[in-house]
Amino acid sequence: MSDPARVQTLRFERAQLASFRNIESALIAPSPRLNLIWGDNGQGKTSVLEALYAVATTRSFRTDKLAQAVKTGQPQARVTATVREGDFVRELGLKQGLRGREVSLDGKRPKTLVSYAVRTPVVVFHPRDLELVTGAASERRRLLDRLILYADPQGAEAARRYAEALKERQRLLETRGVAAAELGDFERVAAEHGARFARARREATERLLPELSAAFASVTPSELALDARYLPGGSQNAEEFLTELRARRPEDYRRGRASFGPQKDELGLEVDGRPARSDASQGQQRLLSLSLKLAELRCIERTRRAHPVLLLDDVSSELDAHRTESVLALLQASQGQIFVTTTRPELFAQSVFAASDRADFRVENGRVTKL
Ligand SMILES: Nc1ncnc2c1ncn2[C@@H]1O[C@H](COP(=O)(O)OP(=O)(O)O)[C@@H](O)[C@H]1O
Ligand SMILES: [Mg+2]
Repeated sequence: MSDPARVQTLRFERAQLASFRNIESALIAPSPRLNLIWGDNGQGKTSVLEALYAVATTRSFRTDKLAQAVKTGQPQARVTATVREGDFVRELGLKQGLRGREVSLDGKRPKTLVSYAVRTPVVVFHPRDLELVTGAASERRRLLDRLILYADPQGAEAARRYAEALKERQRLLETRGVAAAELGDFERVAAEHGARFARARREATERLLPELSAAFASVTPSELALDARYLPGGSQNAEEFLTELRARRPEDYRRGRASFGPQKDELGLEVDGRPARSDASQGQQRLLSLSLKLAELRCIERTRRAHPVLLLDDVSSELDAHRTESVLALLQASQGQIFVTTTRPELFAQSVFAASDRADFRVENGRVTKL
């Protein structure tokens, strides 16, 4: 019997793609550790990662509309994958049509998409993730919400109900005015779920911050001081939450949205005492965004008790050879499976990974070849 508290290995053993972006068909047998996917721009490298991400999570990391991934002229994109977690093997299937999508787990339809997605934790890091640092607070809230999905499903459910109640309250405010009788009912529901959701956000931040400090310290060269903290937009106390909602009716009516609640949460990030979003150098912002992703990975690893698969898109355009190696050294210390795309495989020539722990794939005009 395996120890249930142990962190399990989790990996793609096989993936098959059909009509996905510019890839007509590909069969991939990856290494359990490092997989390097290289090729020139526009050949289909990111599409390979996107397909792995899609079959694991039912979503894309580059678009809200996975239907865009259906190969031009084809009715449907298909990805199937064999995933091994510890001693267990399962078959994942995704069929994405121009409209609908279908997923299967061992040939059966899963109860919910969320239950399907948390089975195969995958963390992706791509150049646009710089927005985790430079972008709006919503980028950072989304990261926290991904952690909540794994660690606190009830918190995720509270978030959904909170958003629903808040929407109804806003609709009432706008159609019936600030004195509408039913407002109180929706505010009570919103306050109850909002307070629960706020707790989930705080707990997610508490799990993230130590991991973030550790990751940032290991990828930054000097004694850069990182200060990260949770700045709540709401309250974990339902009574207080309700009082605020009531008091803010006129203001929320004028603004067209609620001014109190976890939808206003922020994860404040400062480097050397200055806001990272506006004042850190671009190099620091990149390392901080990478650190946020590594911290996300560690948190999910801890709660899910399995090593998430890590997808790193175009790291070489973001980092120099030295930085790339320090990132890989960090990754080698963990035991997860990694897929890295690059236009510059020479950056990985001296990789900390042994040859037996590494597989190389070349992507050329939608054709994937194992080297
Ligand atoms: N739905 C689609 N059908 C066919 N080709 C597509 C589709 N979507 C994108 N492409 C093409 O796929 C190619 C590969 O894109 P991508 O995976 O981003 O390449 P890389 O990461 O190697 O730079 C691009 O040339 C793009 O124009
Ligand atoms: Mg790419």
